[in-house]
Amino acid sequence: MYSQPVKFAAISSDVNKKIMRKTGILLGCLCWMLVVQAQSFEWTKVAEGVWRGRIGQPEKYDLLTAAGTEPNYKALQQQGASPFPFSFSLIRGNIKDGKCYLRFPLDKQEELFGFGLQFQTVHQRGKILQLRVDHYGGKDNGRTHAPTPFYVSSNGYGVFINSARYLTVYAGTAVRKDSKDAPEEKDRNTDKNWSARPYSDAVEILVPAAGVEIFVFSGPTPMDAVKRYNLFQGGGVLPPRWGLGFTQRVKSLYTSAEVEAEAAEFAERGFPLDFIGLEPGWQSAAYPGTFQWDPKRYPDPKKFVSNMLAKGVRLNLWMNPYVSKKAPFYQAIHPYTASHMVWLGEVPDFTMLPARKAFMGQLEKNQLSIGVSGYKIDEVDGYDYYLWPDLATFPSGHSAEQMRETYGLLLQRYTSELFHQQNKRTFGLVRASNGGGASFPYVIYNDYYKHEDFITALINSGTAGVLWTPEVRASKTSEEWIRRFQTVIFSPMAMINAWASGTKPWSFPDVANDIKELALLRMRMMPYWYSLFAQYHFTGVPPFFGMDLEPGFYQPKISRKEDPNLNENPYAEAVSREIKDQYMAGENLLVAPLFAGQNTRTVVLPKGKWFDFYTGKLVGEGEVITVSPGLSKIPVFVKNGAIIPMMPPLLHAPRAGEKTNLEIRFYGDQPGHFSLYDDDGETFQYEKGAYSFREITVQKNANGQWEGKISSPVPGKPNTIGTVTWKFMTQ
Ligand code: GAL
Repeated sequence: MYSQPVKFAAISSDVNKKIMRKTGILLGCLCWMLVVQAQSFEWTKVAEGVWRGRIGQPEKYDLLTAAGTEPNYKALQQQGASPFPFSFSLIRGNIKDGKCYLRFPLDKQEELFGFGLQFQTVHQRGKILQLRVDHYGGKDNGRTHAPTPFYVSSNGYGVFINSARYLTVYAGTAVRKDSKDAPEEKDRNTDKNWSARPYSDAVEILVPAAGVEIFVFSGPTPMDAVKRYNLFQGGGVLPPRWGLGFTQRVKSLYTSAEVEAEAAEFAERGFPLDFIGLEPGWQSAAYPGTFQWDPKRYPDPKKFVSNMLAKGVRLNLWMNPYVSKKAPFYQAIHPYTASHMVWLGEVPDFTMLPARKAFMGQLEKNQLSIGVSGYKIDEVDGYDYYLWPDLATFPSGHSAEQMRETYGLLLQRYTSELFHQQNKRTFGLVRASNGGGASFPYVIYNDYYKHEDFITALINSGTAGVLWTPEVRASKTSEEWIRRFQTVIFSPMAMINAWASGTKPWSFPDVANDIKELALLRMRMMPYWYSLFAQYHFTGVPPFFGMDLEPGFYQPKISRKEDPNLNENPYAEAVSREIKDQYMAGENLLVAPLFAGQNTRTVVLPKGKWFDFYTGKLVGEGEVITVSPGLSKIPVFVKNGAIIPMMPPLLHAPRAGEKTNLEIRFYGDQPGHFSLYDDDGETFQYEKGAYSFREITVQKNANGQWEGKISSPVPGKPNTIGTVTWKFMTQ
């Protein structure tokens, strides 16, 4: 499958030798120095549509090594062939002062997306970013929970820098004097077209290491590049069905009796609940942690967990990984911890087996073995003041910088392995990730709380290879409460995180019924969500993404000079703008949230007809519409021909093997197709082939009536589908 490496050099050694013969040793030496400095990339095609470039001596420890990812070559092959997006020679690299200076081409009309989980911007061209794992601090400067060094171009390709270092990115900001396409010099005194930020024809990235490995993913569309990037990491995560239900996190110092009472109240009120999250108080001490149950608050953990499971409610435990001297495995882990502590807890070096054995062994013995279903891995993202400093040392010899960039990946990797060993899927929360982490069963969250920015993060999660939840914590008004709730329902994890506020779904009585309807809608849509994630896993399409990944949507800006009728064409204007307040939930649904204080908003509908999710009515096509949905609704629009499989509003996700009836909704006026994924929903048997896709098609029959068909269950594969009813939404 691997083809021959394609090699090229700025000045090849053959040319160099000729020069030496012709002009003597002195000049030869000069050119030799040039060769060393202007080093070349060595390119290898590693999979269909994926090329690896290496320059210098790439470090042994990088993002992909830390994450331990295995590409899904078969799925990459199925994506088909697609050429390298430009000439290899356009990617340049130099090594100087032990650093790589990388340069990638950039067209005049090109826009860039990605560079990690940014919160305020989607278009990244013109940015200077310091990519570094950190808690998001209110500015898109590159410091964030997942500073994934991956960018996607509107020209339809992606670039990934596989380095566990702090990277500096100049995303089209600097102009070289030898630029082939440098802008014309203008006189600021007299020329009103003078620009403080002249056009730049390159993305430049500084990697503080004497070598690096990069990957280029071909298109032809930006979405194709994203799919290849995700598949190259093994595909996105496939959560258990219960992970896509509803989750409530309770107050930190709750007792087991209080947790059981809370679950009972959800059941009495008819609110769905699949898992409850316990915060630091489940442990006998926290910050630093002991990683064992508090004997007063949780006197009989085994009985508690099994009582909860019997009620259909799983448990997710908060932790940060910093180890107290009171932890039962402290002595065993102590030699394998860093020089510096975090909140006076020791920092395990998870790249070392003895550290993993001690730490993960405790989780296994104390928690997984009694039925705990997942974790929330907190505070692995930074805040310089509490994390280890950059001059900390780790016993494995990895630097503090490398550990910071990969700590979230390591914890995700090794905790997921624990669940994998038990053949049980998990779905939890984490505060840091990075390139290579797409297949981990974790969703990122944080302590920042701006609703609008949470939606922009959801958009950017689609190009960062991560999942993000716009969690609901507290709200000043019932309006804010319901608006936030509406978006968390249309996100990877439907969660209230009430660790501090204690808010419950019904805390705002005037909207409590609407909130319940929304939570039940989340449950009804489970077959759709589950298939979206299966698509993420098997084909690499992220479950949530921004409009720029919608094929053919983004159009470069046109000036009034180019189109004098621009004013009469608001659609052309809209699709060239940065759209950060509406997003896609899968390829079929467009979600356009409202924020507190808003009664009305505009929505940019891509080309093709779009239909109202609730009524099935046509709302527009390739245009900008204005909607005023009222407080109880979040505007959701459905693509023409879309099929949305739904189930009854159960209070818990169906258990393994449980059959569920389906209501298959069809929207629009053109034939449609949907691949409905099915497996046992809880184990890893799907990795051994125990799954199927049931093909759903809708088309007009001989009488001109819409008719739906679903393919028969595949013999020998799990079949969780009961009776099927059809609902043709567009009349
Ligand atoms: C924070 C975390 C919160 C909550 C809290 C508990 O750092 O982001 O969600 O878990 O810790 O102390």
